[in-house]
Amino acid sequence: MGMDDALEDRPFVIINVAQSLNGYIAGKGGKPVKISSDEDEERVHALRASVDGILVGINTILRDNPDLTARGKDGKILRPARIILDSRLRIPRNAKVLDSGSRTIIFTANSQRTVEGAEVRVMAKDDLEIPCILHNLYRMGIRKILVEGGANVIWRFLRAGTVDRFYLFIGNEPIPEGGIKLFAGKPEPEEAIKDTKVINGGKLLELDPLKLVTDNEQ
Ligand SMILES: NC(=O)c1ccc[n+]([C@@H]2O[C@H](COP(=O)([O-])OP(=O)(O)OC[C@H]3O[C@@H](n4cnc5c(N)ncnc54)[C@H](OP(=O)(O)O)[C@@H]3O)[C@@H](O)[C@H]2O)c1
Repeated sequence: MGMDDALEDRPFVIINVAQSLNGYIAGKGGKPVKISSDEDEERVHALRASVDGILVGINTILRDNPDLTARGKDGKILRPARIILDSRLRIPRNAKVLDSGSRTIIFTANSQRTVEGAEVRVMAKDDLEIPCILHNLYRMGIRKILVEGGANVIWRFLRAGTVDRFYLFIGNEPIPEGGIKLFAGKPEPEEAIKDTKVINGGKLLELDPLKLVTDNEQ
């Protein structure tokens, strides 16, 4: 590896996630719930419009089937690359991210299947670590990404120490107990709060990603 190709070269990483007042990012069994207000959705679309790629884990595709597009200020649809982490290549053929509307990149360890509408990057299982995936993205020309979830993928990024900005929207409404929590079994992130802003329907926290991970987790 030459000087120009250090493993530390990686895209800038922003995490954005929304949780209910009582800490849930999804309902029971991973059922999607609407947490963001219209104003918050506008903020998320501006964030999406500012990056080269939007990254999610396969469970988010299976539960929510998002198209991961961005709406520009003038209502124009923007199309950053869509990046999916899917070690077993479980993505269904009819997933919206396979609509060929924009570039879709899947990182997997399964070489047994082809997927129409996506660039499938087959890696050795041990290479499916976040730093390695980020380095690959960098080499593909991707310089800035937005990680939207779910909880599993977000904690992998935090533990890898590869998060530059972390936004957590907390909605004003609770949802029924029993869903997926980002901070399940962990303290709420009071110590990590860098900034708080009230926006319509809730509040937006900016968190210090390094303070979210305790020493024994890293
Ligand atoms: N409120 C929000 O802002 C928000 C945003 C997004 C999602 N969500 C919710 O979050 C829920 C899903 O969260 P989740 O924690 O269950 O799952 P997830 O993070 O969406 O996906 C996790 C899965 O991704 C795969 N994966 C993770 N790291 C990988 C890697 N380095 N390489 C290859 N594959 C990798 C693994 O699949 P395998 O097990 O097959 O290896 C893992 O089980 C959904 O219910 C969704 O509604 C909420």
